[in-house]
Amino acid sequence: MAGLNLIQQLHKILPENRVLDTNQLSERYSHIWHMDQSLIALGVVLPETTEEVSQILKACHTSGTQIIVHGGLTNLVGGTETNADQLVISLERMNQIEEIDENSRTATVQSGVILESLHTALEEKNLLFPLNFGARGSAQIGGIISSNAGGLRVLKYGMTRKLILGLEAVMADGTIISSTKKIIKDNSGYDLKQLFIGSEGTLGIVTRAVLKLEEAPSSRNAAYLAVDDYQSVVRLLKFFDQGLAGKLSGFELIWCNSYEQMTSTSDAVRPPLPYGYNYYILVESLGSQIEQDQTEFQNLLEQVIEKEMALDAVMAQSPSDVEWFFRIREDVNNLTDSMTHDQHFDISLPVALIGDYIEECYQKLKNIAGIEQVYAFGHVADGNIHFMIGKEHLKDDLRLKINDIIYTGLKEIGGSVSAEHGIGLHKKDYLNISRSESEIALMKTLKASLDPKGILNPGRILA
Ligand code: LAC
Ligand code: ZN
Repeated sequence: MAGLNLIQQLHKILPENRVLDTNQLSERYSHIWHMDQSLIALGVVLPETTEEVSQILKACHTSGTQIIVHGGLTNLVGGTETNADQLVISLERMNQIEEIDENSRTATVQSGVILESLHTALEEKNLLFPLNFGARGSAQIGGIISSNAGGLRVLKYGMTRKLILGLEAVMADGTIISSTKKIIKDNSGYDLKQLFIGSEGTLGIVTRAVLKLEEAPSSRNAAYLAVDDYQSVVRLLKFFDQGLAGKLSGFELIWCNSYEQMTSTSDAVRPPLPYGYNYYILVESLGSQIEQDQTEFQNLLEQVIEKEMALDAVMAQSPSDVEWFFRIREDVNNLTDSMTHDQHFDISLPVALIGDYIEECYQKLKNIAGIEQVYAFGHVADGNIHFMIGKEHLKDDLRLKINDIIYTGLKEIGGSVSAEHGIGLHKKDYLNISRSESEIALMKTLKASLDPKGILNPGRILA
C-alpha cells in the first residue's frame, strides 16, 4: 500500500511518462551484461532536474522507501541490483554538458552524461577529461563519481577523486548540497564533495559536477614489452618513469595466459609480440611534441633491449597501431565471453609484492575444482591487479573459496579488496581486510547521520 501511495505522489512530481510502475519494467534491466533479464523494482523514476531529484527523495524519505540509483549500469560489484520494494532513480535524462570553459579548463556536466560523449565534445576543443576505461561508451559521470572510477591513465592523472572540482548532490531527505565553483583550490573547511565521491550513492545522489580538464596531448606513443620475471617489470616501470619525465601515462601488465586469450579471439586483437614469455607490458606516453616524443620513446625502447631489461619489445608505428595495442587490453570481454560464469577482482597491493602474491593465487586456484579459467592483468603501476575467473557454477562454497584465496593475504601486506570497482554488495563481508574496526565504525556513523532511515543504496559498502 505504501508503495502505491508513493507512486501516486511521484506522479505529482513528474509527468506520466517519467514514472514507470512495476508493470512497465520489461525493457529495463539492472546491468548492461544482463539486458535479457527484466528489472524487478517498485518502479523507475526519470528526473530531468536536481529539483526533481530533491522532491523524489523527500517523498521517499517520508515514506521510508529504499532507492537504488542507476547510471550506465556498468558497475561490477552489484551496485545496481534491486528488489521488488525498491524504487530505481535513473539519471539518464540528466545528460546535458552544460558548459565547457576552455580558459578555466573545466566542464560542468549533469550526472547522466556518458563518458565517451564528453570525450567527443572535448576533442573539438583540444581538451581532455583524462579518465579512460573500456566501459566509457556506457558509464555515466554520476556513477563514475560515486564509484571513484579509475582506469588506464590513473598513473598520470589520478582517479576520479582528483578530477572533480565541484559537485552538486541531493541528500537522503532531499536537501541539495551544491558547490559548483570552477576553482582548483578551496581550503575553506571540510571538503564536503569528497563525501559523495566513492561512497557508492550511499550518502547522496550526485546530480552535477565540475570536472577538471587537461590540455589534450597531441602525441601518443605505445609499446608492448615482454619479460620473464616480475623484478624486470618493476625495473622497467622505474626506467620509463625516469626516462619519460612526466609523460608516462600508462603501464599495464598482462600475465602470459591472459595475453594469449586476449590476443586470440579475432584479427582485431592479434598479438603484437609472440607467445612464450611470462609477462607482457603495455606502456603508453602522452606528450605534445610529436616527432621529439616519438624519437625519445624509441630511444628508450632501444636502450631497454640493449641493456637486456626486456626480452622483446614492439612499438606502435601509427595511431591505428596504438588503438590495436589498447583494444587488446581494454576488451576484457575477450576474457569473460568464454566463461560459463565469471567472478572478478580488483585488488590493491604494494607494487613490489605483486609478482609473488599473484603467482601464489594462481597456484592455489589451480587446485580448486569448478574453476575453469584464471586470468590476471591490471594497472600494475597503481598496484591494482584484476583477476577474471571462470567457473562451472554459481554455488556459494566455490565463490567463497575463491574470495578466500585472493583476499586473505591482503591484510597482512597492507593491501585492499578494492582498488577501483568499489565494495557494493559483493565485497562488504571483506571490508575489514581493507579497513580497521574504527574506520568502519566512523563510516557507519557518517551513514547514520546523513541517511538516518537508510534509504539510499541500502546494503552497499556496509553490512
Ligand atoms: C579494467 C577494468 C576491469 O581495468 O577495471 O579493464
Ligand atoms: Zn581496471
